[in-house]
Amino acid sequence: MAIRRVALMTGGGDCPGLNAVIRAFVRVGKRKFGWEVFGVEDAFSGLIDLDYKSPRGNRWLELDDVRGIIEMGGTILGTSNRCDPFQYAARGETETRDISDQVMANYRKLQLDALVSIGGDGSMAIAQKFIEKGMKIVGVPKTIDNDLGGTDQTFGFDTALNIATEAIDRIRDTAESHDRVMLVEVMGRDAGWIALHAGLAGGADAILLPEIPYQVEPIAEMIRRRRARGANYSILVVAEGAKPQGGESSAVKGEIGGMPRLMGAAHRVAAALEPLVEADMRVTVLGHIQRGGAPTAFDRILGTRFGETAAELVAAERFGTMAALREGRVEGVPLVDAIARPKKVDPHCQLVCTARALGVRFGDGSTDHSLRP
Ligand code: F6P
Repeated sequence: MAIRRVALMTGGGDCPGLNAVIRAFVRVGKRKFGWEVFGVEDAFSGLIDLDYKSPRGNRWLELDDVRGIIEMGGTILGTSNRCDPFQYAARGETETRDISDQVMANYRKLQLDALVSIGGDGSMAIAQKFIEKGMKIVGVPKTIDNDLGGTDQTFGFDTALNIATEAIDRIRDTAESHDRVMLVEVMGRDAGWIALHAGLAGGADAILLPEIPYQVEPIAEMIRRRRARGANYSILVVAEGAKPQGGESSAVKGEIGGMPRLMGAAHRVAAALEPLVEADMRVTVLGHIQRGGAPTAFDRILGTRFGETAAELVAAERFGTMAALREGRVEGVPLVDAIARPKKVDPHCQLVCTARALGVRFGDGSTDHSLRP
């Protein structure tokens, strides 16, 4: 089958480096393979309705469209994390219905030979269902949370990590000046990669992860000990998905792509610490600041490598695969590997042991670093 027309979309939460992938894919697709590349607006929204209009709308992408975008955050194609054609609910509707056949019909109407879906676990799960319906799909893994299986790293993580680290550095200055306990909440719904790495890089005193349910008493004890030693401030990094032992993460009303919205993890820790320590406390929630802005050089390069590899995978007709970073090389892996199991922090991994060895608390009362692998 000669490939002539390929669609490209970005799905799920945005993430620095998306435009680097789009740029690389369009450049390689057009320059090396001579393809027509269709830019689908707002994830599957643009394939549900071919006349779909958000600010820009669906369009055929030319080389000019991707000039000067490698340093841009966000995505020139727009995105959505509320658009699953298998469980579709239009704005204002509560009932969901399966409109995947409509998407298949539009895919054929556009005479597409393949679709490249740049997304996280939700987008990859939807892509897999369309593969089973006969769509020819190649995936590209993205998420600042870095929790997608099948790849050693997703692009966007490095940028988010650097933003969070810089924030901790800034917070340390003011924490020290005011002798305060500062809690910094970072993103990470189910996986604490940003919290663990930024906490270590920023020299945090405690790091609370979704993978290690916490108790507040060991944290309070750490704060009291530091005070007794003359260290009058403490920095606690809290992943948004952190949960107390025997409890759940801090979900609020509303949902994101079928999952509950998380909010209030660090405030909950502060409220629980309040009666246990005599300290002035402040909470900073970094939120979407971690998702915007220029990607780091690392994420630009990883995004570029993923975009180029996705084009090669399409050209080789290796559908049902995803570009992935494996031990320094970018290659195609089965897309099912990405969705089989999320990539979470192993509570006994070397990085956690290193942090424990340095005296960082995880709120589980353990200071055991003899488990070092
Ligand atoms: O999956 C990435 C992520 O940034 C999560 O860490 C966070 O919980 C979620 O997206 C936030 O999504 P939204 O932009 O819809 O609030």
